[in-house]
Amino acid sequence: MTFNHTTVTEQAIANAVATLRSGFLSEGAQVKRFEQELSTRLGLVRPVALNSGTTALHLALVIAGVKAGDEVIIPPQTFIATGMAVLMTGATPVFADIQLHTGNLDPQSFAAKITPRTRAVIPVHWAGYPCDLDEINRIATEHNLAVIEDAAHALGARYRGQPIGAISRFTAFSFQAIKHLTTGDGGALCCLRPEDERRARIRRWFCIDRDNSPPSFLGERQYDADEVGFKYHMNDLAAAVGLGNLEAFPRVLARLREIHTRYRNAFASVPGVTLLEQRDDRESACWLFTMLVERRDDFLRATRSRGVPTTVFHQRIDRNSVFGGVRRDLPNMDEFNQRQVCVPLHAGLTDEDVETVLAAVRAGW
Ligand SMILES: Cc1ncc(COP(=O)(O)O)c(C=O)c1O
Repeated sequence: MTFNHTTVTEQAIANAVATLRSGFLSEGAQVKRFEQELSTRLGLVRPVALNSGTTALHLALVIAGVKAGDEVIIPPQTFIATGMAVLMTGATPVFADIQLHTGNLDPQSFAAKITPRTRAVIPVHWAGYPCDLDEINRIATEHNLAVIEDAAHALGARYRGQPIGAISRFTAFSFQAIKHLTTGDGGALCCLRPEDERRARIRRWFCIDRDNSPPSFLGERQYDADEVGFKYHMNDLAAAVGLGNLEAFPRVLARLREIHTRYRNAFASVPGVTLLEQRDDRESACWLFTMLVERRDDFLRATRSRGVPTTVFHQRIDRNSVFGGVRRDLPNMDEFNQRQVCVPLHAGLTDEDVETVLAAVRAGW
């Protein structure tokens, strides 16, 4: 049994071969189709396909106007990519506390960290469970801040009847190798505002407007780049893989949710386990199964000795030297960091694997 898994369908392999044979690998028809399918099948609003989730976060920050000297509020419970994207703009990441019962940004702590220099907030949907988006968006609107959801774990999640990717000004997704839906590496930035989408499309490729830069007599495209642009676009090979894998996405998500429910039902009565919150107004994408346990080292030793690769997945990022290397007073983060642990949750688990996980945890530590 492994902790991570990469789901690649036969259709994705066939699509990749066909694209490799097509003679066109750059950003073209497959990328357009992938964006359309993300929109029609999953309800994502104006998805702009990119080459990673990190570049989606960075592009959103740039389009929101975040620059050196500004502050961006983020939770420490995330992958370091969230903080790196902020640093790439020259702005300072300001770490707010999380909720102990979700691992997500605490709206009250977010509000308390706002200063006149704050420009944006990046709520991260930890493990695929949606943050308190109404509260976060309300506070952000009051202070004129851009909300950029980090939905790297949350493709397919829903909040109060709407899909993640249709709620805040920006939402960044990742299609990296071990995500629910992979393109090898890849990402998408959803934009509620048409003008943000337009800037994202242009700036993902060197600030050249592909659709409105006809070739001149000399042969090259005619364009006038008016801002800094990036090489952040998705290519057709990645999009072809994504299109093939998209066919399996509903099945993958349903399987993850089924296993997630079995774990919750079984672990609720295990002494020493505290389950994370699960409210009726939102549906998790169930990308990880994180829980809080007592005597975590003992838990890890015992479950591993029973054949289950249990892991602490992503420790807090705020103590890295690149963020100043200082100890911050974030009590919920401190406790979560001591007690959180994940058991394997992915589409590669057999029913027998799931039974092994259930038995390994039930046996105690
Ligand atoms: C919470 C979070 N944000 C951002 C990223 C970055 O995504 P990518 O690897 O596609 O750049 C990841 C990657 O796993 C992540 O877990």
